[in-house]
Amino acid sequence: MPATGSKKAAQKPFLTDIKTLRERARRHIEEGAVTEGYAADRNIVVKLLNEALATEIVCVLRYKRHHFMASGIHAESVAAEFLEHANDEQGHADQIAARIVQLGGEPNFNPEGLLTRSHAEYVEGHTLNDMIKEDLVAEPIAIDSYRDMIKYFGNDDPTSRRLMEGILAVEEEHADDLVNLLGEIGK
Ligand SMILES: [Fe+2]
Ligand SMILES: [Fe+2]
Repeated sequence: MPATGSKKAAQKPFLTDIKTLRERARRHIEEGAVTEGYAADRNIVVKLLNEALATEIVCVLRYKRHHFMASGIHAESVAAEFLEHANDEQGHADQIAARIVQLGGEPNFNPEGLLTRSHAEYVEGHTLNDMIKEDLVAEPIAIDSYRDMIKYFGNDDPTSRRLMEGILAVEEEHADDLVNLLGEIGK
């Protein structure tokens, strides 16, 4: 058996030897899902993901505020859309927090400094029109910063990259929804 194993390894030099893989797995068993083959700088990735987490939390808070404060003749449909976005952002925050833990980091939920860590802003807005416009400012900021993160993660951390690609696609939908809403309310 061992002879076959080493023969296989010699034929496929790009594969790490199974014995080495097993030894590594035992050595790093306490470090969780991330193995020695992880090529990215874990501290930087965790820091970036915490910024994305803060961005999502700020977006949840802004959309919630807008949801509850929406008033006027178009309020019902717009408020429903705001709530849907708030729930999407909450889902994103949860996914990002889970990934941070998977990387051996700690998700930062500290309200202190939340706005500093976030890329998007918290703006209340008075009219429906103001609220939608503020959300339309915030979404492209998230989109641009997530695009940068995706580029940075590249092939060094494909799992974080795919996570952020999925989230990015939803942020693009949010921006589209807001453009449509703005058209519907006629301003
Ligand atoms: Fe989001
Ligand atoms: Fe969004």
